[in-house]
Amino acid sequence: MKFFIDTADVQEIKKVHSWGILSGVTTNPSLVAKSGREFTDVLKEICDIAHDVESISAEVMSDDAEGMIKEAEPLVKISDMITVKVPMTTEGLKAVNHFAKNGIRTNVTLVFSANQALMAARAGASYVSPFLGRLDDISHDGIDLVAQIARIFELHDIDTEIIAASVRHPLHFTQAAEVGADIATLPYKVMEQMIKHPLTDQGIDKFKQDWAKANQG
Ligand code: E4P
Repeated sequence: MKFFIDTADVQEIKKVHSWGILSGVTTNPSLVAKSGREFTDVLKEICDIAHDVESISAEVMSDDAEGMIKEAEPLVKISDMITVKVPMTTEGLKAVNHFAKNGIRTNVTLVFSANQALMAARAGASYVSPFLGRLDDISHDGIDLVAQIARIFELHDIDTEIIAASVRHPLHFTQAAEVGADIATLPYKVMEQMIKHPLTDQGIDKFKQDWAKANQG
């Protein structure tokens, strides 16, 4: 199970990259808008910071395949790490197929059913992103979807990797890992929450106190 970070905030990427656990970055239009920066500027900076990761997702906004392909042209020139993030639509599938035939990796986003994931995979997607949190929000179990996709991909020997997306809390990560997601893309806050454990903090304090007592002149 690999860690991607889901953000367009370069400071957050810098911090997590320094921890040595980062395998990729995902951005989306809302996250880029929140950063208040120009898309290609922010992508270039992300590529500089996360220079050794496997994938940096950059989302295209056009509704039609032709537009998606055109939009992706300058993005994929930025770095080999750039993965074109494509919405799960008919036009998206066409674009994914075109990219696959041209050696360009894709992340099919806004996946909410196993059938969508399977179609994206067959079109040639490198990654599919089922959105856990947004399913949970409407009383559907997001983890069940990840498990179902993982079973289908295993059964049919499909190489497309599953990115558990729209992750809201540490338990989502654990559960996604248990049911067979290859990757989870996490907000920075969730990564911080995952590191922390009160018993770790208490243990460090106790060791420090005992050490100080034993070494008091
Ligand atoms: C994934 O690639 C998306 O950017 C992201 O996980 C969406 O998460 P949200 O539902 O919290 O907006």
